[in-house]
Amino acid sequence: MAFNEKIFQSVLSEFEATPEMLREVATNFRKDLQMGLRNPDNSSLRMLKSYVGLPSGNEKGEFLALDFGGTNVRVSRIKLKGSGEFEIVRRVGEPLIVPGEYDYIGKDSTAEQMFDFLAKLIDDAIEGDHDTKFYLGHTFSFPSTQDDLNNARLIIWTKEFATPGVEGEVVNDLLNAALKRRGINNVEPVAVINDTVAVLLSAAYKNAGIYIGSIYATGHNTCYLEPSVHDEKCFGQGGMILNLESGGFMKLTPNRFDMEFDRKSEKPGEQRLEKMASGRYMGELLGMAVAELTGENGKDYGFTSIDMSMMIFDETPNLEKASDIIAKKIGKQLELDDVKKIRELASAIVIRSARLITCSFVGIIWQRAGEGEIEKQHIAIDGSVYEKMPLVKENIAKALAELLGADAAKVDTILDNGGSGLGAAIAAAMAVVDK
Ligand code: GLC
Repeated sequence: MAFNEKIFQSVLSEFEATPEMLREVATNFRKDLQMGLRNPDNSSLRMLKSYVGLPSGNEKGEFLALDFGGTNVRVSRIKLKGSGEFEIVRRVGEPLIVPGEYDYIGKDSTAEQMFDFLAKLIDDAIEGDHDTKFYLGHTFSFPSTQDDLNNARLIIWTKEFATPGVEGEVVNDLLNAALKRRGINNVEPVAVINDTVAVLLSAAYKNAGIYIGSIYATGHNTCYLEPSVHDEKCFGQGGMILNLESGGFMKLTPNRFDMEFDRKSEKPGEQRLEKMASGRYMGELLGMAVAELTGENGKDYGFTSIDMSMMIFDETPNLEKASDIIAKKIGKQLELDDVKKIRELASAIVIRSARLITCSFVGIIWQRAGEGEIEKQHIAIDGSVYEKMPLVKENIAKALAELLGADAAKVDTILDNGGSGLGAAIAAAMAVVDK
């Protein structure tokens, strides 16, 4: 079988993000920021207050860091040494779901099971020590409203999490209850932050010139330091970091695959940018596009972003690796020409993702600069897609250049690996300074 060229070109063009589109999305993003600062109800960005600004870099002491936001939960004991230095004393981690064994994120799980699992991991991180006092920073990577640094109420699950009994609840209340059930009375949660905030804190602890923190992984979201927001309950310097929940940005046009996927997702109508750009969804989009080429519309091939990255990495003349991956997913061996087409589609989906995400960065950079000069800065990013997916870094740089022109020389992106954990420890340190 050879794919129909016309159908292929039409599917491919769906994923194109032209320079004009980029400018429009970045402009809309900036407008949404401005409207959100006045009243978040008028913006598709949630603009959630974090109650932290920048750390000084001199935070010190040993803290517990709970990193909860993807399928893997990690708990670390981190010693902050000041001057941007730190040491990971102990680190444990386990998945929230092992197919066939247990599942704490599905519809049939309960909040108690989920938080008991977290308490068990915390117990493991403190090696059963129920005497020494530990302050805990919690990176909870879902949209939550806060009225201080330690109380975060989950608004809505994202990333296809579906555990009942957590939406609308204060997450550290659930965690505290689970700690008590386990007989742990010496661990005190003192800070809850989003993973984007954690990345910003972690990168700013080590480097100057960081105002934007982002996650580009299973999910996607960005936060930034807004100098005009102040609150007496806010710790740190330079204003307040706002968690935009930019994965929920809606002012961009979905293509027909985006719309079809949205209809069958856990939360239809939510998280448009995230569904168009993050790792959790790229494989789904590729699968739907491929099904159109094979004439098996509606079939779920189960492509993942890891498959896509391996296919794009395969630069051998016969694309054997890519061919094998596709054959396993769609159940038949394709001709080289068709394999090339699928690889090209995968690349187009990744490039669109990197370009759209860059629009949100540029919207923030414009907003922070106002009428003035764009500052020299690094955008801190953590996440497997940013770290490992081919084509991403160069396409972010290219889109920055398209949108910022000569000013692009002042802006680059840096990987802040493991920022979710380190940031939680820093937030805990910032919170206990006044204790
Ligand atoms: C989802 C969550 C957001 C988080 C992001 C990255 O978008 O809603 O809070 O920051 O995933 O993990």
